[in-house]
Amino acid sequence: MSTQTPTVRRTTVPQIRNRKGGEPIVSLTSYHAHTAAIVDKYADFILVGDSLGMVMHGMESTIGVTLDLMIMHGKAVVRGTQKALIVVDMPFGTYEESPNMAFRNAAKIMKETGCGAVKLEGGARMAETIHFLVERGIPVMAHTGLTPQSSHVMGGFKTQGRDEESWAAHSADARTVADAGAFAVVLEGMVEPLAARITKEVEIPTIGIGASVDCDGQILVLEDMLGLNPWTPKFVKVYGQLGPMIEDSVKRYAEDVKSRAFPTEEEVYR
Ligand code: KIV
Repeated sequence: MSTQTPTVRRTTVPQIRNRKGGEPIVSLTSYHAHTAAIVDKYADFILVGDSLGMVMHGMESTIGVTLDLMIMHGKAVVRGTQKALIVVDMPFGTYEESPNMAFRNAAKIMKETGCGAVKLEGGARMAETIHFLVERGIPVMAHTGLTPQSSHVMGGFKTQGRDEESWAAHSADARTVADAGAFAVVLEGMVEPLAARITKEVEIPTIGIGASVDCDGQILVLEDMLGLNPWTPKFVKVYGQLGPMIEDSVKRYAEDVKSRAFPTEEEVYR
């Protein structure tokens, strides 16, 4: 076998898998090269999530996100980063129909973006597909609990596990995807004790979003934690107020252009 000297040393899938029960895994979403380069300094993995449909393209949900959009943003994030594992979401309609379809589309994402893994939504119902992909060389991160691509079936973005009778099914979902070969599982939008219990039960790292501090790692949508989302969900901690900062900068720029205070001698070529 011949190998190239790698120019980029990224966190690997087995390294994430081995963090179970260890130092918490840090993760954020990123959709473009400049922000990804900043996130890359601190994150173990970066998710190019299908939430880009809402964040970058003003969609109402993730349902309309296409494979081409995921690949375009995936390429930008891979180009902008050096260190973190890059995981790209499989969008709605590109993997549910059959394991063969999932393989074809996951392979296309990996070939064209250079990412290290894909993520797909669904618990027990996706186990056969996860097994099929992993057996064929595609690392899979699973995503259970509140799965936004199924929001129409769920009747909206509803916190999962409010009724204790549903806990067994949620636990079974997480255990089944782990048994199928997923290297980690995102637990989204579920009551805290359920997420803590699943984290104890499964052998792979759990990555929480609106879940529990006991999860093996945490993820947030970058724009949410930077204060760029006009509406802040309860599970988001806002670490910066970029929205007002951008507005103030744009307002001052507009004033300067109108008053001819910009450009000055400093900003022109003589
Ligand atoms: O698309 C996304 O941003 C996600 C995270 C919420 C985990 O899937």
